[in-house]
Amino acid sequence: MNAKDEKRISRFPFAVSRLLFAVFSFTLLLTACGEPEPITAPPTAGSDWWREAVFYEIFVRSYRDSDRDGMGDLQGVIEKLDYLNDGDPATDTDLGVTAVWLMPITEAASYHGYDTLDYTAIEADYGTEADFRRLIDAAHERGIRVIVDLVLNHTSSLHPWFVDARTGPDSDKWDWYVWIDENPAYFGPWGQTVWHQNGRFHYFGLFTPEMPDLNYTNPDVTAEMYAVTRFWLEEMSVDGFRLDATRHLIEDGEQMSNTTATRDWLIAYRDFVHGINPDAVLVGEIWDETVRVAPYIDAGAVDLAFEFNLAELLLLSLNQTNPASFRGQLAEVLAGYPGGQYATFLTNHDMDRLMSQLDEDPTRARLAATTLFTIPGVPFIYYGEEIGMTGARGALQPRDENVRTPMQWEPVENAGFTDALPWLRVNQGYLGQNVIVQDAAPDSLLTHYRQLIRLRQTHPALARGGAVLLESSCDRMLGYLRATADEQILVLHNFADDPVRDCAFTLPASDIAAGVYETAVLFGDAAAGQITVDKDGRFQDVQLTPNGEHAPFTTLILQLQPGS
Ligand code: NOJ
Repeated sequence: MNAKDEKRISRFPFAVSRLLFAVFSFTLLLTACGEPEPITAPPTAGSDWWREAVFYEIFVRSYRDSDRDGMGDLQGVIEKLDYLNDGDPATDTDLGVTAVWLMPITEAASYHGYDTLDYTAIEADYGTEADFRRLIDAAHERGIRVIVDLVLNHTSSLHPWFVDARTGPDSDKWDWYVWIDENPAYFGPWGQTVWHQNGRFHYFGLFTPEMPDLNYTNPDVTAEMYAVTRFWLEEMSVDGFRLDATRHLIEDGEQMSNTTATRDWLIAYRDFVHGINPDAVLVGEIWDETVRVAPYIDAGAVDLAFEFNLAELLLLSLNQTNPASFRGQLAEVLAGYPGGQYATFLTNHDMDRLMSQLDEDPTRARLAATTLFTIPGVPFIYYGEEIGMTGARGALQPRDENVRTPMQWEPVENAGFTDALPWLRVNQGYLGQNVIVQDAAPDSLLTHYRQLIRLRQTHPALARGGAVLLESSCDRMLGYLRATADEQILVLHNFADDPVRDCAFTLPASDIAAGVYETAVLFGDAAAGQITVDKDGRFQDVQLTPNGEHAPFTTLILQLQPGS
């Protein structure tokens, strides 16, 4: 058995946390109070490139195998960069994303990479440092920024530091981890065992015994991770990091998330990162309720954080064919974060794939994407979502691998991912859900993603405008205004599985100037109309599609143009 075969496949008890999360979300909905104040456009900050970015998450092992060993690699990603963005603004045949997030690419014990063995070595399965540099250069040439996963919270139990530490208190590395004599009788946030025995001591490992937590109250650990960070920013020219398990860095007894110490550590860390590169972005994985995530942004602990509640409630609303849950959450998000400063997404590598959560219904997947690209926030796409890849972790014995299967490029054996035996079997839906087939189809999901990303990027109101929720006489319709000082756009979604007719919309007070506006249709099927906005930036009970109806799960996007 060689080193590659030895990659372990470990699993995490996320099912329990998801259940708790759903209960929390529901409670929050029941207690949510009134509408937020209208939001004005976020301030323009020169170096905040990420505000207008569209990100794409890649699991390198499953993206494209360039050397016929059955595993995806960095050269494979390079070969597919033109698919993501060919760098030529005149073409519309690429996806148009402007940044990628690479899941862990450093040497690790398991296939997924979240149990690091060496923080500055490229995972041998993926290639070499030279390959990584070529990837960065090729991406930057096309205007694609690259951020990498950084797993600060824990190492692998096979990392040389831990191998040394576990020899006993005399080890130089003993204090790099968290030890206790007696096993305290408490469990982790999702009921998991967190104290693991090693001889007569116990060490803390929030996720699994194979992932011992680093001790960030030890300045030597912080100094080491600063050096690691400097390496990636200065030597490897990355544009930022997705910080894994951000809320768990430093425990305070039984408080294992969102401690003051974690927040303070991050504030100092972000200063350090911006001292090296003011443009670098830190994206926090803070899998928690909005009320606990937003304070990280307010405190300047990270630049962006994923909005998990928003993602979950959007999918819930799509399945309920009623936007109410999502609308309530969107209102909370708009009020809770500084303008647009959070990361939006539909699903990620820890969740069942979008299609599988939507009964494999392409019309709802389309509406999910339209919503993602028209609300404020920085959107992230999980690889394969744009072609409707399916995959569910499973209930009894969840397998994360089911949602991390090889990317489906072509309707050929192994979906064009590899010419060898793939490390993980390709999903059986690859004959219909693949890039080649959808590339040529004007009504495919891939074409839809391309159109919506372009629309977002050519309309500043969508890319960085503020938002105001509309009120509607139809409970199945969701409408909002996106606006900058120079552009105003109305977005109207029908979440119902039936056509909706005769809807009247009301815009509460906003910053838009009084006057008569023509509506130009940017997306969707409607006749142009007129709207009169009063001196408080309002309009009331307006049928934005005179005599028209909204087809099930469709969207209308209207640009307001001042009348002559
Ligand atoms: C969160 C990551 O998203 C997940 O995939 C990983 O297993 C855990 N953190 C532990 O690193």
